[in-house]
Amino acid sequence: MTNEHTADTHASPVDVVTKLIESRRSIKPADFSGRRVEDALVWQMLRNANWAPTHGMTEPWRFFVYTDAARIRLGKFLAEIYQTVTPEESFKPAKAAKLISNAERSSHLIVIAMKRQVSEKIPEVEEIEAVACAVQNLHLTATAMGVAGYWSSGKAICSVQLCRHLGLSPGDCILGLFYVGYPGTDWPSGSRSPVGEKVVWASDA
Ligand SMILES: Cc1cc2nc3c(=O)[nH]c(=O)nc-3n(C[C@H](O)[C@H](O)[C@H](O)COP(=O)(O)O)c2cc1C
Repeated sequence: MTNEHTADTHASPVDVVTKLIESRRSIKPADFSGRRVEDALVWQMLRNANWAPTHGMTEPWRFFVYTDAARIRLGKFLAEIYQTVTPEESFKPAKAAKLISNAERSSHLIVIAMKRQVSEKIPEVEEIEAVACAVQNLHLTATAMGVAGYWSSGKAICSVQLCRHLGLSPGDCILGLFYVGYPGTDWPSGSRSPVGEKVVWASDA
């Protein structure tokens, strides 16, 4: 790992992983440079996603990757779905336009889906959790490569219409769309409130 988010030849493995985790940012297509990301890098992101933990080894994550002209078609299709699922009085043309421009500005679009186990033995929430772990692997890998990404949800993306279009089954679901591109701006910094506020620690010591 040799980019600005990981580069420090004297750093311990824990320092490297901490820096990578803290550097992972949601960077939106409006801030992408427009340069295409090499397919080999996207495959590496997907291979690392595939190593997510999975209860019962169901490996429920599914990724539908769109690039080149296919990503433009998907953006237009999402805008159509948005129009279909939105009551006329709350339809915002700018939102539809954004779905198209987000696709245009991205290098690759990755639809994130959960494939439901046929027996439904593993609780659905655990399958969704496994997919979220896979997305984190993917996003961290992108960060290590200096590739920008952003997990977007919303009713057009997580729609029955898109599920059907992708040939998913009724028990499956779409968890979002991951936009991929090279950053066109400085890598943003992030913040979190202290972890101590979210931890209850019991000890007999
Ligand atoms: C399941 C999920 C869905 C998300 N959907 C959206 C979204 O629809 N729109 C959006 O602006 N950000 C979305 N985000 C990204 C968050 O806004 C982002 O993670 C948060 O602002 C923290 O920023 P960071 O990722 O750079 O740390 C989503 C994140 C997750 C985990």
